[in-house]
Amino acid sequence: MEQMDGLTVTACERCPELCESRSRIVSGVGPEDADLVFVGEAPGATEDERGEPFVGRSGDVLDDALRDAGLARADVRITNCVRCRPPDNRDPTDDELANCREYLERELDLLDPEVIVTLGKVPSEHLLERSVGVTNEAGTVTETRIAGAPRRVLVSVHPAATLYDPSQRETFAETIDTAADLAGVEDSGDGQARLGDF
Ligand code: URA
Repeated sequence: MEQMDGLTVTACERCPELCESRSRIVSGVGPEDADLVFVGEAPGATEDERGEPFVGRSGDVLDDALRDAGLARADVRITNCVRCRPPDNRDPTDDELANCREYLERELDLLDPEVIVTLGKVPSEHLLERSVGVTNEAGTVTETRIAGAPRRVLVSVHPAATLYDPSQRETFAETIDTAADLAGVEDSGDGQARLGDF
């Protein structure tokens, strides 16, 4: 049984193991006309508990980088490749990624964003459909097609990478700055919110 209410998945039982491990389905959050969409891997423990992507420690890192780039969390869309928490925080399997892909594709179709930022290896490889070395490729933009539509994908390291490897902090911050630039967020030059009246 699958059901969607707009972009919110309200029922899905495609992945037997994830149905066991999840407390709830974690759909994307943020405006449905956002210019920027951040795509992570799958919910972790905090996300599973609260029903929102990137609200644990990785979320704090993401929120800080967004703010430093003059963006507010509320102005961007944040979602995941897989919407249910895998057991023991393991990576989602290829089957689980495939099962959840339709929801992500529908989300991207509706949003039609300027830029898709892939946070870490799993979403980068899932959307670019090739192997990706995220540390080397962070900050690079690829024009590709997703579900038939032309899309611009900006590869990023996962925010959690900055927690165990501080040398990744600058890479992450620069990538988020690039995302803001590509999405046409104006730089006021004074460190204030670049979305101005928004
Ligand atoms: N890591 C992810 O990839 N997604 C989340 O929602 C939280 C942490």
